[in-house]
Amino acid sequence: MIDIDRCITEFDKGLRTISGVHPVARPTPGMELPETDLGEAERRHAAALMRVNHCGEVCAQALYQGQALASDGLRGALDQAAREEADHLAWCENRIAELGGRLSLLNPLWYAGSLAFGFVAGKLGDEWNLGFLAETEHQVERHLQGHLDRLSQSDTRTRAIVEQMKRDEAGHADTARRLGARDLPAPAKGAMRLAARAMTATSYWI
Ligand SMILES: [Fe+2]
Ligand SMILES: [Fe+2]
Repeated sequence: MIDIDRCITEFDKGLRTISGVHPVARPTPGMELPETDLGEAERRHAAALMRVNHCGEVCAQALYQGQALASDGLRGALDQAAREEADHLAWCENRIAELGGRLSLLNPLWYAGSLAFGFVAGKLGDEWNLGFLAETEHQVERHLQGHLDRLSQSDTRTRAIVEQMKRDEAGHADTARRLGARDLPAPAKGAMRLAARAMTATSYWI
């Protein structure tokens, strides 16, 4: 049974995720670093990569909200991770604005899909729910390393954000494993990679 107060709280969070109003617990990493003169192509590339990361963080918000709606047991344990995801969302948004980029037009679509996915994962029971979370965080961590490889070495402000996010995602995966995550079957991991690839490929451009 889903309680109405919870639905309203999560609906409010959802609106804020889509509309770009986020409470932030930690300041944006790298704020103290000087802005680099990147050149037009490099700047657009960095903005597009951060648009992908922002879309990923919209999905993370939806996944955590879907799981919170579906399962009472884990909500407290995952609060810290959910709060850090809200920081990531705001940091990406700030950096995209600094780089003169824009957010993905597909965010509402990916948000809705991830919310449904998170809800279903939440209903499968805590061990599978955590397994899904651990695998997601693990894949995001690897994806962020890929972005660090593609970003200009001189773009220290963007890199500082991506590096901190990567550290946080590794921590989220550890938390899920510590709480008893089950290792997902290989086909499930493969399907998640395919969905992530579709998200990253489209949000780079759209
Ligand atoms: Fe994140
Ligand atoms: Fe995370």
